[in-house]
Amino acid sequence: MPKRSPDHPEDAGKRRAPSSLASPAPDTPTPLLGGLSPAQFMKKYWQKKPLLIRQAIPGIAAPLSRDELFALADQDDVESRLITHFRKRWALEHGPFAADELPTPKTRQWTLLVQGADLHDDRARALLERFRFAPDARLDDLMISYASDGGGVGPHFDSYDVFLLQVHGKRRWRVGAQRDLTLQEGLPLKVLANFEPEEEWVLEPGDMLYLPPHIAHDGVAEGECMTCSIGFRSPSTTELTSQFLYWLAERGADAVAGQNAGNDAGNPTLYRDPNQPAVLHPAQLPPALVERVSAVLAKVRWNDADVSSFVGSWLSEPKSNVVFDAPEKPLDEARFVARAAKNGIRLDRRTILLYDARSYYLNGEQYLLKEVRKWLPVLADNRFLDGKRFVTLSHDSCVTSLLHEWYCAGWIRLGVLA
Ligand code: SIN
Ligand code: CO
Repeated sequence: MPKRSPDHPEDAGKRRAPSSLASPAPDTPTPLLGGLSPAQFMKKYWQKKPLLIRQAIPGIAAPLSRDELFALADQDDVESRLITHFRKRWALEHGPFAADELPTPKTRQWTLLVQGADLHDDRARALLERFRFAPDARLDDLMISYASDGGGVGPHFDSYDVFLLQVHGKRRWRVGAQRDLTLQEGLPLKVLANFEPEEEWVLEPGDMLYLPPHIAHDGVAEGECMTCSIGFRSPSTTELTSQFLYWLAERGADAVAGQNAGNDAGNPTLYRDPNQPAVLHPAQLPPALVERVSAVLAKVRWNDADVSSFVGSWLSEPKSNVVFDAPEKPLDEARFVARAAKNGIRLDRRTILLYDARSYYLNGEQYLLKEVRKWLPVLADNRFLDGKRFVTLSHDSCVTSLLHEWYCAGWIRLGVLA
């Protein structure tokens, strides 16, 4: 189980999250997007072209200090990488790293990347709140990098939409929309063979660069620096298709195809070949067998509801290293309700809660929205319910027992973060 940290008190006060930490409304111009509204940004730049934003978050401080980041990289359940470019040779190591396994900050040309910082620290998670003008379903994680002078990961491209927010020190970014995405061979990381930058900027704390997928880029630290990457996944069609087919198979494609009529799940329809003649060439695949398999597959059917179920379940699935931290001494339901009515509740930073017209999807599982339609979308969109709102729900014992269950599982917590 992840270590408990004093930064995450069980009962974190009752104030509504200040609006400066929340994402701007779609039509409100915001410094975060260089004076554009989220609606304008999405229309002009999202998935289309890079945007440099000076002072997107003026006065920003790194969500974690350098030492706190190093301490995270020492944890078994944290995904971290160390990339060095000593004597012009790229090297990559995977964490965890004890403090004495990292080069000293005075050593030039190394960088530590900590993936999924939002899963491990509420301050890191809070930074993501500002970017919720894009759907949660696209959000991947917050990666925090520390680099010593001259450190970076080399010129490369990502399959992600990413906001690169400078939170400490300076980094020089060079960017190009080149078509040639050939990689250098024989390296442990993806470095472009022929990087042709077209633009170059030095980012200071508070500055931010948005890059759509497949834009070539290279960021080199000027002195020690820290950068937060807010990443949005763009799954490939291959990944989408294979994940969907896997989901369909898990769910029982046989049943989806309606080919199992009259049989129960323990007695599925079997492949049959009563007309198979004796063969002279036993290793040869019988063409009739292929035809029969093809006929079975042609009957596999799915509808839009199946696709919604798949998308919601898949995209709300926690990453494999996520372990929910159940409260050590959970309050009983009556005490939980009393406390929640006073201080509100919030989703745990690791919880993914999505919904559509019919269902909600909580950490990879699908449930019907019907009974909870009045409040669940509010909780999912805000990621908290304040005490006042909770009081209106507390009259319904079905709601309070459901929320108490989630609290005992560590999916929600008491208190609203300031
Ligand atoms: C970094 O923070 O060093 C790398 C981020 C990126 O290029 O995607
Ligand atoms: Co990148």
